[in-house]
This record gives sequence, structure tokens and C-alpha cells, in this order.
Amino acid sequence: MRTLIVGVGALGGVIGARLLARGVEVALAVRDERTASTLRTTGLRVSGIGGDVAVASVDVRPLDGWPSGAFDLVVLATKADDALAVAPRCAAALARGGALLPIQNGAVAQVLAERLPDVHVLGGLSNLGATMKSPGVYEQRNAGHLLVGELSGGVSARVEEVRDWLARGVDVRATANMRGAIWSKLLLNCSVTTLGAVAGTTMRRYVADPDGRALFERTYDEALAVALASGVRPERMLVEPIPPPAKRDAWIEQVLAGYGDVQPSMLQDFERGRPTEIEHINGYVVRRGAALGVPVPLNTAIADTVRTISRGEMRPALENLRRILRADRARSGEREGLSV
Ligand SMILES: NC(=O)c1ccc[n+]([C@@H]2O[C@H](COP(=O)([O-])OP(=O)(O)OC[C@H]3O[C@@H](n4cnc5c(N)ncnc54)[C@H](OP(=O)(O)O)[C@@H]3O)[C@@H](O)[C@H]2O)c1
Repeated sequence: MRTLIVGVGALGGVIGARLLARGVEVALAVRDERTASTLRTTGLRVSGIGGDVAVASVDVRPLDGWPSGAFDLVVLATKADDALAVAPRCAAALARGGALLPIQNGAVAQVLAERLPDVHVLGGLSNLGATMKSPGVYEQRNAGHLLVGELSGGVSARVEEVRDWLARGVDVRATANMRGAIWSKLLLNCSVTTLGAVAGTTMRRYVADPDGRALFERTYDEALAVALASGVRPERMLVEPIPPPAKRDAWIEQVLAGYGDVQPSMLQDFERGRPTEIEHINGYVVRRGAALGVPVPLNTAIADTVRTISRGEMRPALENLRRILRADRARSGEREGLSV
């Protein structure tokens, strides 16, 4: 399967290096010739979970340096905004019958499938955690896997072929309920990750605060209401996506066991002054909620707070969660006052 990985950052670097180290031929695309030239010199090295590998020789060019119609699979491993920008060029790189596999957080695959109706867009997501230490040097942070599937549901021969091909390098699984899986990850990103970034701390620390815990529960529930109104059946991902009402505390403990101590990636974006993926996380839930008539005041306030922090007008702090909750309670009180 002639394969191009577009974006050789944390995930693209780990996936590419592990495939190449196993002798699986993959081509790589980076943003510009300068980065390509660096990677040709350094090669790729991965340390951490899954063992160390080093690849001396890599076939890497800027995306425009790859011919059209040359690949059976393009793995799109950039951040979400870049993925939307570069997807048409990735589609042009596909041979007839080829497939595009976006692996971003958020709803990028669905958006691309709508924008590029003539392209076979697979669904993908990553439970594999990785960081890039410097160009060509990566660390795998957990024993997670990539998940692939058809956005239309079911497990096709194509999905099995892609799974088996990429599984030569990293753990890859297929699901018959890809949209459900994407939503389940989105629910956790909207609550666990974004609230952690806004609070400037881990989920374990912010849910120890009663307001932090209340905001976590209500943000999750709002996003879940949008998922269910969209007609998807969220798929189990470490925890049941629909918290059992009578066992809510036990459910939160399970979420904490899986994600409670993870440093939110969006917090790193704030710290490094990089754009966040908020428009594809809570921002997407807000747009879907508006389209479906599902109220999403908390996700709206949280997305606004992230934009404010990104502009440098506010700092991540636990107090931000309390303020969002207080403002929402004041709004609800006003609404109740008007209705009597
Ligand atoms: N890392 C993780 O552990 C992890 C886990 C789950 C999900 N995800 C998701 O996976 C996606 C990728 O994350 P990441 O951590 O791998 O991001 P990353 O380290 O920022 O890597 C993205 C790479 O894409 C490159 N890129 C951007 N535009 C490009 C273009 N036009 N052509 C070629 N390359 C381009 C970037 O290059 P420049 O540096 O030059 O911009 C960067 O090297 C995100 O949506 C993230 O949310 C990541």
C-alpha cells in the first residue's frame, strides 16, 4: 500500500519511524524544504513505550514535492486547522481508489468527508500519546493505539487492509462504530482536556474542587446531549460514554484512573503560544448544538474562555472554572425569574 504520512510531528513521527524501522515503506511530507532537509540529515528516532528505534534514511519532501495520484493511503497527521487546509492537496496525492485517513482530535474526519465528497475519507483517531522533542526525535508516551473505521459504519475490507498495514508499526484497531468512537473521544476532550487547560491543571486537581467537578459533569452532559441528538451511539472508550446516573461517582473515578493525571495538551499550546484546536473540540459541539437546537451554554462559555486565554487576556487558573459556573448559574436564575 503506497503510503504518505503528512505531518511529521509527534504522532506522524512516531508512526512513520516505527513503520520504517519494521521495513514498511512510507513516504513523509513536511511543511517546507528546510524541515525536509533536516529530517534527511537526522533521520527519525523514537524512545519510550514500545521500545527505541532509529531510522537513518527517510524519503521526505514538502507535500507539493510529491506527485499527484501516487498513493493508496494518505495519513493526515497535522493539527486540525492544518488538516483542513492541506486536505485538498492530500486528496490530489491519492491514486484512484485511495483513501485519506485523518487522525486528529475532534471532528476533522466528518468535516473533511462533507467538504470532499469525491474522496474516500476514513475515520481515525489516536489513543497513542506522543511528543516531539526536536525535529526527528520523538517519544512514545503510552501503549495506546490508533483506531480506524468507515465513517458510514461497519468494517470494510479497506479498513481491515489499512489496519493490518499500519499495525506492522504501531498498535492499530478497527471499529464498526467510528462516528461513535470519534464522539466518545470528543466528549472527553471537551471536558477533561479543555477544562484542564482552562484551569491550568490536571483533571484530578480540578475535580477535587466542588465547582470544578460540577462544571466537568455539566460540560460532559451538554456535549453528550449533542452527540445523542446527532444520532450517534457513542462507543465505550476506557469508560462507558453514558455515565450511569446511580453510579456517577464511580464513573468519575474511572475517568480519573484513565485521564486524571494527564497534562492537558491544550495547556501546552497556551504555554507555547501555539494555536489551540478549540474550534474542533468545544467549538464543534457548540456549532452542532446550535444546528440541532440543543442548548450548549457551558461549552460556549468554555470555548470563549479558551479564545480569551489564547489572546493573552487571561491566564489558565482554577478560578476560571468557578467564574464560568457562577455566570451560568446567574443566567439560569435570570431565566427562572423571568418564567414565573
Ligand atoms: N501527540 C499526541 O499524543 C496526540 C494524541 C492524540 C491525538 N492527537 C492529535 O493528533 C493531531 C496531531 O498531533 P501532534 O501532537 O502530532 O501535532 P504536532 O506535533 O504539532 O505535529 C503536526 C505536524 O504537522 C506539520 N504540518 C503542519 N502543516 C503542514 C503541512 N502543510 N504539510 C506538512 N506538514 C505540516 C507540523 O509542522 P510545523 O511544526 O512546521 O507546523 C507538525 O510537524 C492533532 O489533532 C492532535 O490533537 C495527538
